[in-house]
Amino acid sequence: MRGKFVTFEGCEGSGKSTQLRLLGEYLKESGADFLMTREPGGSAVSEEIREIILNPSNTEMCAECEALLYAAARIQHLKEIVEPALAAGKLVICDRYVDSSFAYQGAARGLGAEFIEDINSFALKNYPPDLTVFLDISPTAAFERKHGADKNDRIEALGLEFHEKVYKGYKSLLQKYPRIAAVDCGGTKYRTAENIKNLLRAKAIIK
Ligand code: TYD
Repeated sequence: MRGKFVTFEGCEGSGKSTQLRLLGEYLKESGADFLMTREPGGSAVSEEIREIILNPSNTEMCAECEALLYAAARIQHLKEIVEPALAAGKLVICDRYVDSSFAYQGAARGLGAEFIEDINSFALKNYPPDLTVFLDISPTAAFERKHGADKNDRIEALGLEFHEKVYKGYKSLLQKYPRIAAVDCGGTKYRTAENIKNLLRAKAIIK
């Protein structure tokens, strides 16, 4: 049987990396057959594209170029890494996916949903996630928790106003796509980890 495809989304500082690490540990212990991967990156070519996108000295990069680079890295990753794993029946968990492009490039950069849909039609048509977990915490609360943004990351360094637009973008995606479920992550990391596992059980992704 083909595996399930689950994506994780959230604003900077939402604790996504910590949650994915905790979930990975849990899945390993429970003997699940899974692959944990990330965007942008996850394959050699996509990691090279990631370097270009996130390099803070690429100040002249326009929003359209940025969105297309994310989409290019995405297709390579889907074909090279995600597809074989799904075909082998694995549960594939991906740190960020098309919804990041909708929120960051579509909403916050102002490119609009239609442009993002067009350039991501391959991903949206062929690899719609079975479930998308949105870690729900506002950037203001998140940056307070992590004491500011990472200046070495071109996107993260964009400032609170930009990240509030990203958050708003995610909120409207929640209305539009029933496959996205919000998980409150204002509590402790262990509470959030439980919330995530409960959601995955309720959606029959894990036992
Ligand atoms: P990363 O260090 O992986 O961030 P995080 O730990 O917050 O996931 O860097 C990925 C950055 O790329 C992050 O700022 C979000 C951004 N991004 C987009 O703007 N559009 C996209 O389509 C994707 C996948 C990521």
